[in-house]
Amino acid sequence: PAPIYLDCDTGIDDALAIGYLLKTPAVEVVGIGTVSGNTSAGQAAENTLRLLGVAGRSDIRVAVGEHDWLAQPYGGGAAHVHGDNGIGGTELPSVQQHPIDESAVDLLLRLSHEHSGTLRIVATGPLTNLARALERDPSLPERIAEVVAMGGAALAPGNITPVAEANIFHDPEAAQVVVSADWDVILVPLDITMQHVFDEGHQGALLDSGDPLARALGDMLGHYFDYYQGVFGRRSSALHDPLAAAIAAGVVRLTRAPAVPVEVDTTGGPGRGQTIVDMRMQRAGHVDHPEVRTRVALDVDPEDFASHLLGVLLGTPA
Ligand code: BDR
Ligand code: CA
Repeated sequence: PAPIYLDCDTGIDDALAIGYLLKTPAVEVVGIGTVSGNTSAGQAAENTLRLLGVAGRSDIRVAVGEHDWLAQPYGGGAAHVHGDNGIGGTELPSVQQHPIDESAVDLLLRLSHEHSGTLRIVATGPLTNLARALERDPSLPERIAEVVAMGGAALAPGNITPVAEANIFHDPEAAQVVVSADWDVILVPLDITMQHVFDEGHQGALLDSGDPLARALGDMLGHYFDYYQGVFGRRSSALHDPLAAAIAAGVVRLTRAPAVPVEVDTTGGPGRGQTIVDMRMQRAGHVDHPEVRTRVALDVDPEDFASHLLGVLLGTPA
């Protein structure tokens, strides 16, 4: 299996991503680092440890990462989206495991040596830990196979401001460092993640499952649906982070993912956090910019990712 380091801000859809990765035989999660975003880095680590406990995977190391973002302090989380505890108020059983003594930045750097050339990074929160790791060791990209980051909005509107997506908005300076480093990045923006949705049918199937992790995920979706009711007009939720995880696992294929220049707006104006994606050459077809190593995911196969995700979480993949 391909080794994966997951960097996340667990988070309801981050929890779905963790569930997906744990149940996907093509990959092995070799470590998880947390960052502040939906909740604090510390709370995200606690949520992650408890989820791993429910999944019977307490062997996986979890490290707390950066609490504050590069240029601004952590803003207090997104309780209205993800609940006060980050996982929709779902009370998972406590575990004896603690985060490891290393920081997420140290864990990532160490894993990059242990799995040099094969390690894939999946980032489903602000990109602060990745930026710090690049700052600390500029040779990191040489040892990384690929970075898949949920974040940004290419042509779609933003979700936290009219033009910015939350993960990028929280730490635009870090995102700019990550997209301009010399490694292969796949950005999984709102353009594609908002098209893949769980509804009450999917939730019901999770809640009816005999699998404790599937049931826990079904439970936390209730809070997520409350929020997305106001976005989609019905009880449902976008599948941002699990889609990035499935792309990184190589199970979901990209059918349209042009290599295009991406710049992040790091100014203090209304554009802060916007991903400025140069799609002009796309008018002439699927044209990759030579030498650009950032691809933007715009279409995937299978088209019905929600069914695929549900099947994997239930242990009955299609
Ligand atoms: C992203 O922001 C977070 O709230 C979600 O977990 C996801 O990673 C979507 O904009
Ligand atoms: Ca997230």
